[in-house]
Amino acid sequence: MCGIVGYIGNEDAREIIIKGLKRLEYRGYDSAGIALLKGEDSTFHIYKDKGRVSRLQEITDFSYKSCLGIGHTRWATHGVPNQVNSHPHQSEKSRFFIVHNGVIDNYKELKSEELNGNNFTSDTDTEVIAHIIEKYSNEMKVDEAIRKTMSLLEGSYALAIIDTQNQNKLYACKNKSPLLLGLSDKGIIIASDVMALVGYSTKYVPLKDKTFVEITGINYKTLDIIGKEVEHEVKVIDIDYFNVEKGEYSHFMLKEISEQPSVIRTIISKYFDGEEVILNGDVSKAIKDSDRLYIIAAGTSMNAGYIGKELFEKMALIPTEVHIASEIAYNMPILSKKPLFIFISQSGETADLRAVLVNVRANGYRSLTITNVKTSTLAREADLFVEIHAGPEIAVASTKAYTAQICILAILAYGLSDKHINLRKEFSKLAISIENIIDKREYIETLVKDNLTKRNCFYIGRGIDYYACLESSLKLKEISYIQTEGFAAGELKHGTIALIEKDTPVIAIISQRKINKNTRSNLNEVKSRGARTLVISTWGVHEHGDQIVLDDVYELLSPILTIIPTQFIAYYAALQRNYDIDKPRNLAKSVTVE
Ligand code: AGP
Ligand code: GLU
Repeated sequence: MCGIVGYIGNEDAREIIIKGLKRLEYRGYDSAGIALLKGEDSTFHIYKDKGRVSRLQEITDFSYKSCLGIGHTRWATHGVPNQVNSHPHQSEKSRFFIVHNGVIDNYKELKSEELNGNNFTSDTDTEVIAHIIEKYSNEMKVDEAIRKTMSLLEGSYALAIIDTQNQNKLYACKNKSPLLLGLSDKGIIIASDVMALVGYSTKYVPLKDKTFVEITGINYKTLDIIGKEVEHEVKVIDIDYFNVEKGEYSHFMLKEISEQPSVIRTIISKYFDGEEVILNGDVSKAIKDSDRLYIIAAGTSMNAGYIGKELFEKMALIPTEVHIASEIAYNMPILSKKPLFIFISQSGETADLRAVLVNVRANGYRSLTITNVKTSTLAREADLFVEIHAGPEIAVASTKAYTAQICILAILAYGLSDKHINLRKEFSKLAISIENIIDKREYIETLVKDNLTKRNCFYIGRGIDYYACLESSLKLKEISYIQTEGFAAGELKHGTIALIEKDTPVIAIISQRKINKNTRSNLNEVKSRGARTLVISTWGVHEHGDQIVLDDVYELLSPILTIIPTQFIAYYAALQRNYDIDKPRNLAKSVTVE
């Protein structure tokens, strides 16, 4: 969600910032802006507007070289997306230029208590920060003024700040929202994630909360809020540049769906030695020592968490609860005696999860993060972490991270099970079965064209299929904007069946013998009321007329397979409606506000 790129150094700031912002586009945003120093006449210029970074490129003056600048992609929280509300923002007398990611909870109070009488040009919470820095810079040194401002702010912020009276410096600070420094011998980049550094820096410094940074050329100082130096570790980036290109695919989502067999094979290579699972012993011990697992996640990762619950309870016999991160953050249930909190997050940056992790750590409970981004905040801050090895996921709609998360959860549960299956073999079979579905994607495209003709749709299933329905419906709604519900098949008749009318699409997922008959009778109930039904089943439970029949797999792993046709259903429904598949409206890849 939104992004910051700032630069000071000997290279072209504009190029570094715009390329960096492009690399952060996948996070989701609605406006883009940049402020640059024009060295020849020592003036600063802002270019900003609603819309894409390509729009920013059109309006930016390219006629001069700049060695200092800050750029931003905005995901509006306060004030509509428009030119005025876009960042960078300025202080009242235009001394300070700032870009901000996050939300200032007490900005209204600050306006009236600290800035009574100031004129504001935007509706943002951000502008208040610039005004306060300027106010205090009249009474103290700039670094002190920024730290004083930090002490007044409540909420989340990553900030890059230019003082127009000192062109040799760039300032930054952060709390809750992610921010890091990219280091090179030619200059320093400030960015929200390492993607923005690709091609410029191989080393980076993830910043801790409540850190203030003063950058002068290629040197930087990291201080805490009272001005004491704090050590920050320098890390090395290992992102493979070519992994983040679309290649032959028309969309990242299509590429990422198609990568799932190879992701499963990568997971096998990382976590198996022959048929034995290789896991960090501390992770297995933490799970074994706990009397109840608390899975904390949001969106697709939460849907993977539900499958994790089934795996932990049925394979490893450990009671497991799944909680919506934003709910449990401020409403903790009564916990067991030895809880282990498992955070599942593709990005590792989701603010709702971070809020829970902070609370969990403060109370001394154990934590484990399962993530795709080993450099992320949640990976760094939990006691333990396991990488899902899905490779960079760029499309906002998560696909390969979901299946990879389930594989990792299966590996964790399998490690503590009686090993009545050969998990490695099951994974290999799954990879082949997924390839078979990928080969038939054109058939799924025609099914979508003929059947998903309405503004609404239902996915129904029972047990583990119901959990797969939750993810299938999230996928469809987020990119095709078809109002879709994932429903427990048996629950439909208790009210929601009232919404079924002629041609309402109802898609059933059936992969388990014990619920086959029941789901099919629920399907008949909607059919009798005019629904247009589609069935995704596995071979062992299929019936004549089922539209999509998949290979038989170990039942608890069936969502890894049943989800593939539904990812394609979502993809083709969006494609046929001509929507921006990789960047759906209103959504962000990395949701860094609560
Ligand atoms: C996935 O398709 C969604 N865009 C979204 O629900 C996502 O899964 C959610 O925001 C959680 O993100 P995370 O896995 O990075 O924490
Ligand atoms: N709250 C700020 C705004 O609405 C920043 C949003 C963002 O993180 O992009 O402008």
